[in-house]
Order: sequence, then structure tokens, then C-alpha cells
Amino acid sequence: MKRVFSGVQPTGNIHLGNYLGALVQFPELQQDNECLYCIVDEHAITVPQDPKELKKHILDVAALYIAVGIDPKKSIVFVQSEVSAHAELGWILICASNTGELFRMTQFKAKSHGKESVGTGLLTYPALMAADILLYDTDIVPVGNDQKQHIELTRDLAIRVNNKYGKTFVVPDGRFLKAGARIMALDDPTAKMSKSAVNEMSRISLLDEPSKIKKAIMRATTDSEGSVRFDMENKPGISNLMNIYSAFSGKSLEDIEKDYEGHGYGDFKKDLVELTVDGLAPIKAHYEEIRYSDELVRTLHEGAERADAIAQKTMKRVREKFGLGLE
Ligand code: TYM
Repeated sequence: MKRVFSGVQPTGNIHLGNYLGALVQFPELQQDNECLYCIVDEHAITVPQDPKELKKHILDVAALYIAVGIDPKKSIVFVQSEVSAHAELGWILICASNTGELFRMTQFKAKSHGKESVGTGLLTYPALMAADILLYDTDIVPVGNDQKQHIELTRDLAIRVNNKYGKTFVVPDGRFLKAGARIMALDDPTAKMSKSAVNEMSRISLLDEPSKIKKAIMRATTDSEGSVRFDMENKPGISNLMNIYSAFSGKSLEDIEKDYEGHGYGDFKKDLVELTVDGLAPIKAHYEEIRYSDELVRTLHEGAERADAIAQKTMKRVREKFGLGLE
């Protein structure tokens, strides 16, 4: 059995990119693997958060995890800050990393661009992410493309520590989907769909009403050619919509092109609205049942206990290898 680990930040607006890039992979992996799915609240505080909102968003993401099909009897679902070993190993891996490689991270560059000074956590964040993964001897990390560089760094850190101290960590692999790995903003298909974009129409959040989904898709930026053809470079708008269509329908891009030969964008978009609304409806219904149940909090407490038991074993090994603590 392989070990799987992934995490989502509880920062609100969980969108179609998060779902089609990462979350959709979570339930399918739990059939044959031992999975840990984490709500990474310590990552969220790399930028200022309202404490009340953060607490609320933690439960929102936990409920969404279960609503998309994670079974807490099979998988471990928990909150990062409930297992203190994340912060502890995070520190150790900050010490194993160097500033050059952290400054090179494209997400850090984007978030610090044009600013004289930013929070230190934005720089050291990838070492904490590496800790999340390495803490559980993870083999597979299902994520979207935007995390590729962070996974590479995690691998580098694992290999570096193993070379210096002897076998300490499992070297993990990222798992990226074809259609959903990089969902772009609906109003600007050259930027990735994000939680923080100002324009609400740039994204579809998982709990959006059908009317909002319809509006966002019908208004989505395309091009003037009018033919449903996949060409990410020259036709990024329609290509992004085709990726979403493919992810929801399971159809290949070639089949979608064939199906819409001779049809305009209007027909295609109308069908995509239906696919998206139908795809998200069961998640929304399931979410409403779970979000305010006592069961949810119990599940998270139990998940943290199970995660902690695995994490403590790793930390014992790591402290020993690094020479930390008493003899
Ligand atoms: P976060 O919270 O930004 O996003 C959660 C997941 O959604 C994916 N994603 C996307 N996929 C496709 N298209 C998009 N537009 C899009 N936007 C986001 C992300 O790749 C991610 O898989 N650093 C991580 C959280 C994290 C983590 C971890 C992940 C912390 N520790 C350990 C895996 C393993 C993040 O900020 O994801």
C-alpha cells in the first residue's frame, strides 16, 4: 500500500481549479492507498487572516473534503495545526534548505513582486509544505500544476537529508491530472483561477448557485474565431473551457472537438453550464448535510490522533538522525 498526502488551505472560495486539479483525485486514491488529507491552516497564516473567519474556513474545507467523497473511515482527515510535528519538522527543514532555492520559487516571486518587504512565512512556506509531506513517508502527492516546483523542492530536501544523515525520508512523487492540472481564470485565461482574484466571475466556487455558474461560463473570455478547437497558446479561453468540459465529462479533447464541429461557442458553453451544475450539485447537497454536524468535529479530532501517531514515529527518527535532544 502506498501512502498519499495532500492539503488545501482554508482560505475560502474553494474553486473549480482546486477541485479539478486536486480534490477530484482524493476519493479515487483512497481505494488502494493509505491517504491523509489535511486542512493546512498553518499555511494560511503566511498572509494576514481574520481568526474567526479562519476557524470557519477550516470546517468549510473539512466538510468539502467529505462532500467530494473522502471517506473518513478509509482516509485520515485532519487539521495541520492539531498535529504539532508539522511545525517542528517545518523548522528542521527550513534549516536544511537554503535561501537561494526559496527565493527562486515562482509563487514567492509572484507574491513578493514589487514589494519592499513581505512576511517571512511566504519565503519559508515551501519548507513547511515539505514537512507536511515527508512527515508521513508519503509516496504520492495529488496536486495541481502550480505545486510542481514545491514538490521538486520537497524531493530535493528529502534527498539532501538522506545523503547527509542516511535514509531518513521517503522521496515522494507529485500526481497531476491531464485535464484539471491547471484551470485558468474565466475572465482572463492567461492567469490561473485563484481564490484571491477580485472579479467573482473569474472563478466558479464549489458552492456557487447554478445562476452564478451560468453567468460566469456564458461570460467567459473566448476568441473571435468561433470554432471549438484546443490550442492553449492561441485560443487559451476556449481551451480552458474544454479542459473543464473534459474533466467533468471524461471525454477526450479530440472527441469534444468532433462533437462540436460546426457549432459555435454558445452551444458549447450551454452544455458546459449543464455539466458543471450537474457535477457540483451532489457535492453541494452533501456539504450542506455535513458542515454543521457534530460528526465533522469528531472526525477531525480522530484524524489528528491517527496522524499524530504516524508523525511521532517519523519525528523520533528525525531527531535521532539530526542529533537533537538528549542521548
Ligand atoms: P492551495 O490551497 O492553493 O490549492 C489546493 C490545491 O488546488 C490546486 N489548485 C489548482 N489546480 C488546478 N488549477 C488551478 N487554477 C488551481 N489552483 C489551485 C493546488 O495545486 C492544490 O493542489 N501549498 C498548497 C497546500 C499544501 C499542500 C501541502 C499540498 C500545503 N502542504 C502538502 C500538498 C501537499 C496550496 O497552497 O494549495
